[in-house]
Amino acid sequence: MSQQVKTGMQHYVEIGRQKQQAEQQYREKMRKKRFDTIAAHGIYSLEESSSNYGSTMEPLVISPAQHFENSDHLEAALSYATPAWGYTRIHNPSLHYLEETLSLLEGYGYHGETNATVTSSGMSAIFMATQPFLENPVPGVNFIADAKCYGGTFMLFNERYHKERNIDVRWIEDSSDLSHWERSIDEHTRFLYVEMPSNPSLTVVDLEGLSALAHHHNLPLIVDATIATPALMRPLRHGADIVIHSLSKAIGGSGSAIAGAIIAKNNITTKLDNEDLKANFTGYLKLWPMRDHGPHYHR
Ligand SMILES: Cc1ncc(COP(=O)(O)O)c(C=O)c1O
Repeated sequence: MSQQVKTGMQHYVEIGRQKQQAEQQYREKMRKKRFDTIAAHGIYSLEESSSNYGSTMEPLVISPAQHFENSDHLEAALSYATPAWGYTRIHNPSLHYLEETLSLLEGYGYHGETNATVTSSGMSAIFMATQPFLENPVPGVNFIADAKCYGGTFMLFNERYHKERNIDVRWIEDSSDLSHWERSIDEHTRFLYVEMPSNPSLTVVDLEGLSALAHHHNLPLIVDATIATPALMRPLRHGADIVIHSLSKAIGGSGSAIAGAIIAKNNITTKLDNEDLKANFTGYLKLWPMRDHGPHYHR
């Protein structure tokens, strides 16, 4: 590689490629570990610890923005040709550690790739996970939701989506009754949404039956699994496409911080004609809607 190319954009593309490859290898290694080991260490490696003053925990990056070495580095980053975080509204290395850890935990026991994003609250996770499916609202557009959901979710769906945007929310009173879900689906349904166990009634549903029903109609199943945490229940391995957590609850130590997360399997089921969204739902959210709406988590 000539000196000219080395100091140009290509240099940063190559550094990024090597970094991504090393991280992918480490992720594969951690994926084979037991659940508790993943929960304790995530993807933070011994090698990284050595370059962080030997810190046993990943560093907390509080800077709002990333330094770029020169305009080539900036150009490589802004054209998504090399991994970068740029600006904390969009991303940040601390968030990356958290996202990758949650992605591995929620994917534990699921034989496929997963992806994750963290958000500023559980409610913003619910908003960001549902909003992309409600674009281009043709007359009759609807989704089907568990009526026993958290009150904030009810308000988002009923006040913001239904009353303000005229989106038909079809509520299921008894979420364990799969025939009620089935009767509510039509050609304009965009997704099924369930909370399990629900807050506060602790209702449960046959996740495998419900995801089979959703997929039969080419729809994604979105599950708010906040109350269980991935330590007790991991809906992706039971067929769900997208999982939501309020990290403000047990998973975050109950009451230590307000945050949320969305974890999806790669290649979700949906009728939407958007290959990026299907392949890597949270990667799509981070690069496009979350960049523009700004609900990413930052501390
Ligand atoms: C099941 C469930 N989902 C979502 C939320 C919303 O989370 P947050 O308060 O972090 O916005 C809550 C909050 O109580 C909840 O219990």
